[in-house]
Amino acid sequence: MKTITVKFMLVLFTAFLMFFFAYGQEVAEWIVPDKYKEMKSPVDASDANLETGKMLYKKHCKSCHGDEGLGDGSKSETLESFCGDFSSDEFQAQSDGALYFKTTDGRDEMPSFKQKIADEDDRWCVVLYMRTFN
Ligand code: HEC
Repeated sequence: MKTITVKFMLVLFTAFLMFFFAYGQEVAEWIVPDKYKEMKSPVDASDANLETGKMLYKKHCKSCHGDEGLGDGSKSETLESFCGDFSSDEFQAQSDGALYFKTTDGRDEMPSFKQKIADEDDRWCVVLYMRTFN
């Protein structure tokens, strides 16, 4: 009788642990400061700006985020975190300023592009290009 109870407790405990880890994997929300949320893009959606955004995306972002922004770039397999799906409603519902903030500051495995794409307008062009994945 006693061993059965112990086994039962072990099963219960294992189930609890699995549950705990499954939820622990959920990515913490990425808080965007209000200042950025409300920021308006200074660049218009011209062909030239889109072309600049595309060129920069292919150079700096594609390796992780993939050709179509699905998070399936060649480098994505070596990452611990998922890069996100740029074609999702959830992603596209974010403001331009939010995407600009995340691109600029980065966090964890997502690099900061403040220096690598030093020109602010260039970073806004990349935001423009990310809108084409919807
Ligand atoms: C080394 C791989 C890597 C590169 C290169 C990279 N990213 Fe990311 N990116 C990530 C990862 C990983 C995340 C998820 C980070 C998180 O949620 O903590 C992410 C998240 C993001 C997000 C937020 C996604 C969301 O769902 O809100 C944006 C926006 C973004 N990246 C834009 C870019 C842009 C633009 C570039 C190129 C200028 C770029 N990234 C280059 C790995 C990368």
